[in-house]
Amino acid sequence: MIKLSQGAEAILYKDNAAVIKERFSKAYRLQHLDDSLRKFRTRREAKVLTKLGEMDFPAPKMQSFSDKRMSIVMDFVPGETLKHVLKHGDEFHTFAKEIGQKVGILHKENIVHGDLTTSNMIVNKKNHQLTFIDFGLSSFSEKIEDKAVDLFLLDRALEGTHFEFYPEIFEDALKGYEETNPESKDIINRLEEVKKRGRNKKRD
Ligand SMILES: Nc1ncnc2c1ncn2[C@@H]1O[C@H](COP(=O)(O)OP(=O)(O)OP(=O)(O)O)[C@@H](O)[C@H]1O
Ligand SMILES: [Mg+2]
Repeated sequence: MIKLSQGAEAILYKDNAAVIKERFSKAYRLQHLDDSLRKFRTRREAKVLTKLGEMDFPAPKMQSFSDKRMSIVMDFVPGETLKHVLKHGDEFHTFAKEIGQKVGILHKENIVHGDLTTSNMIVNKKNHQLTFIDFGLSSFSEKIEDKAVDLFLLDRALEGTHFEFYPEIFEDALKGYEETNPESKDIINRLEEVKKRGRNKKRD
């Protein structure tokens, strides 16, 4: 077993073709709250991965999960994170469009990712699909507002991490989003409102 990553919330190991994601306890959180939060996120991630498997959406296949260990076992996705790929190349238009197309599909199925960053996308080197991971902050929602906020977080993440391609990278993503999401017009209009609110907040 090798350690893949240690984040703020979880530690990940690779065991042959499987990945084990374990959410560890945070010392500063009240024990009770910490346990229920970790349990909630583990269950949510497992539930969404199962649903994505049924949809044939490019995400790791869920193998098993444990409430006790607060862990999920899923398929290993071979490749680099999109963040890494974009930092080492300049072809961003195709990837950006693919991000948008895939977020459009998630939203059409009322799945809101909650943490749309390029570290949470892997360029699968076997099937060349952009594969989404890290569904611990995701939710099921039909609301235009929730989907607009998801896009807003993507916008912020792209601006912060891939400033050399911004704003084109997000504009390309929206073009892809329009292709796969029938409600895209309403959601993108709402995104403009969310952005305005964000600016007003800064001035307060
Ligand atoms: N199924 C997988 N296959 C290959 N690599 C993975 C897989 N899942 C995660 N990774 C790698 O591990 C890193 C961290 O995983 P992930 O984003 O799920 O956890 P995290 O951000 O630390 O946790 P969280 O945000 O849920 O607290 C990813 O950026 C990716 O490099
Ligand atoms: Mg992550």
